[in-house]
Amino acid sequence: MPIKVLPREVISKIAAGEVIERPASVVKELIENSLDAGATQIWIEAQGGGLKFIKVADNGSGIPAADVEIAFQRYATSKVSKLDDLGKISTLGFRGEALPSIATVAQVEMLTKAEDDDTGTLILVENGHTTRKEKQSRPRGTSVTVRYLFRDFPARLKFLKSTTTENGHIADVVSHYAMAFPEVKFHFVLEGRQVLSTSGNGDLRDAVAAIYGLDLARQMIEIRESDEPLLIFGMISPPSIARSSRSYLDFFVIDAGYAAISLPAQLKRLTTAGFYRGNTLSLS
Ligand SMILES: Nc1ncnc2c1ncn2[C@@H]1O[C@H](COP(=O)(O)OP(=O)(O)O)[C@@H](O)[C@H]1O
Ligand SMILES: [Mg+2]
Repeated sequence: MPIKVLPREVISKIAAGEVIERPASVVKELIENSLDAGATQIWIEAQGGGLKFIKVADNGSGIPAADVEIAFQRYATSKVSKLDDLGKISTLGFRGEALPSIATVAQVEMLTKAEDDDTGTLILVENGHTTRKEKQSRPRGTSVTVRYLFRDFPARLKFLKSTTTENGHIADVVSHYAMAFPEVKFHFVLEGRQVLSTSGNGDLRDAVAAIYGLDLARQMIEIRESDEPLLIFGMISPPSIARSSRSYLDFFVIDAGYAAISLPAQLKRLTTAGFYRGNTLSLS
């Protein structure tokens, strides 16, 4: 076959598939956007393993009415504007790819209101195109609803596992962020049932209690070891409640002023999921 540059539509579908692998990737990207927007409360809802319905709502900064449509364009971000900024990124996202990618593989409805706007904006984006835009009221913040995920992507659907497994991936994402950000209140409703609600009081033990139960959280031992510029803190279980599975190990690298540090291979192997808070670099 001769060498040809791919049409734009094909390029954007390939790129979207790289960012959004499964329903849990949508949840991850939307939670990160809410955290970047300074939200102190995040509500997450999912149905049908995330294929039917995903909603993430926050009380963050919201998006000014004039910028709502731009947010869905590729490489559109409010987090980086010049080369220099790349060296001091303090947000989880900065590549401007999540919203356009999600809108390529699903129908996205966003309702958002910024502080200085009198009213909110509702926008519906399908196949990457805006099909509805109107004013609607809402307190400051943003809600994003994602429907028909991968409906037109049979190859991707085939790769997905059962509803229960996909729900499990979504729940993992939510609990990881709830533990990494104990100062943020997370509410999570899965298949119509409230499965997680954290206090958002900043106490890691309370966040662990909300996820693993009060009994286990009470027994966890706090660790805090500092050797400038490193600070290691967290919780470990006493041997009496040790689990044989690696899936109960959660590591987070917080404050990526040191994004350049490379974690020892052993730690990477232990890690089933992890990320640099403030600079997304996945360890798994
Ligand atoms: N929940 C939200 N609250 C406020 N602004 C948001 C939210 N989600 C997205 N945005 C805006 O839309 C832009 C594009 O989002 P996204 O595609 O995820 O790219 P990125 O997060 O890499 O900038 C963000 O830079 C931000 O300005
Ligand atoms: Mg983002």
